[in-house]
Amino acid sequence: MSGSFTSAQFREALSHFASGVTIITARSEAGPVGFTASAFSSVSLAPPLVLVCVAHTASAHDAVVAAERFGVNVLAERQGWLAEQFAKHGIDRFEGVALHEAGGASVPLLEGALVHLECRRHTLHTAGDHTILIGEVERSATWPGRPLVHYTRKLGAFVAQGAPRGAASAEEAPKNGEG
Ligand SMILES: Cc1cc2nc3c(=O)[nH]c(=O)nc-3n(C[C@H](O)[C@H](O)[C@H](O)COP(=O)(O)O)c2cc1C
Repeated sequence: MSGSFTSAQFREALSHFASGVTIITARSEAGPVGFTASAFSSVSLAPPLVLVCVAHTASAHDAVVAAERFGVNVLAERQGWLAEQFAKHGIDRFEGVALHEAGGASVPLLEGALVHLECRRHTLHTAGDHTILIGEVERSATWPGRPLVHYTRKLGAFVAQGAPRGAASAEEAPKNGEG
């Protein structure tokens, strides 16, 4: 940190950016691994790239960045307990978690998520104390529902205002479904 700008001020400022909540999953020799991540973003449309920032200190870091493929599970409003469980240290994060078995997925995918992305590792970049893991999306599925939102260190709900952006009417809104 330069000058008088502190880590606490940085965290406080960033906590005011509302985001969705994902669980990043992968397979490893020791079994499935995963962690809760809000530092997720789309990167490119062609090719279809996404990124997730993984703390170097995260217990899941080495397994996730070493995996050829990783999964992105975008959590639904009622999955706050999963966000908590996949952020806890030293437990079996997959205990009591229903996996989505349909379709022979290449990575562990969580039942009840709003979106599944199956990604192949594209590139890794070191940035400060995190690794930026970029993946190319090979497969996706979406389901209707409401998202879990993270804001000011709390988990909560999303309240829509009016019709979807760019849609002339609700009937023209994009449809959800397995894709
Ligand atoms: C809402 C939320 C969002 C998080 N986002 C990230 C993230 O984007 N990247 C990351 O490395 N850790 C993130 N974490 C922290 C990890 O989920 C996890 O708690 C951390 O890796 C500590 O686990 P460990 O002690 O087993 O290493 C987030 C945690 C929560 C609760």
